[in-house]
Amino acid sequence: MEQDIKQILFREEDLRLCVSRLAAEINRDYEGRAPVVVGILQGSFVFLADLVREITLPINVEFMSASSYGAGTESSGQVNIRLDIHKEIAGRDVILVEDILDSGNTLSRLIPELWKRNPASLRLCVLLDKPDRRVKEVEVHYRGFTIPDEFVVGYGLDYNQKYRNLPYVGVLKPSVYAQGDE
Ligand code: IMP
Ligand code: MG
Repeated sequence: MEQDIKQILFREEDLRLCVSRLAAEINRDYEGRAPVVVGILQGSFVFLADLVREITLPINVEFMSASSYGAGTESSGQVNIRLDIHKEIAGRDVILVEDILDSGNTLSRLIPELWKRNPASLRLCVLLDKPDRRVKEVEVHYRGFTIPDEFVVGYGLDYNQKYRNLPYVGVLKPSVYAQGDE
């Protein structure tokens, strides 16, 4: 895995500090409330696990899954909800947690879907924001890092379902996706 990484963007310590900052903002903004934190699978699972352990509010944790990517590095623009949350969110404060905001296709589909269920509020928390490739406008309330237009993996983010377990965020060598998976 390591040999496929061109450059490390964020080391474990950078990520830890970033997650602490985001959790502190959430703890402050939602003081006295009990939001539902919804992680978007699969990419958010590492970020979410670290984030919720620094949230001191009595939260619920739920998961959703949407697919817009096949095996490539480009969003298809087609988004399907593959797994839905189990909880009723009407009247609840919802915080949606995503690994990376890229074209915006996924979230511009999911967010209106969740608003239909009448949450009291709905905010978005993303670890990474890649604004150069935005196609659909999406409002971000909690943002970890803004990154340039490069394909990154690790800390939950994958290429072809690999590299999610790297403890840092790194830029994948373009030769890896040029040659395909195997
Ligand atoms: P969007 O719909 O184009 O905004 O893409 C969002 C999804 O694409 C994210 O949830 C990621 O799973 C995936 N994605 C976008 N950019 C990257 C990247 O650089 N590395 C890994 N996954 C990415
Ligand atoms: Mg993903």
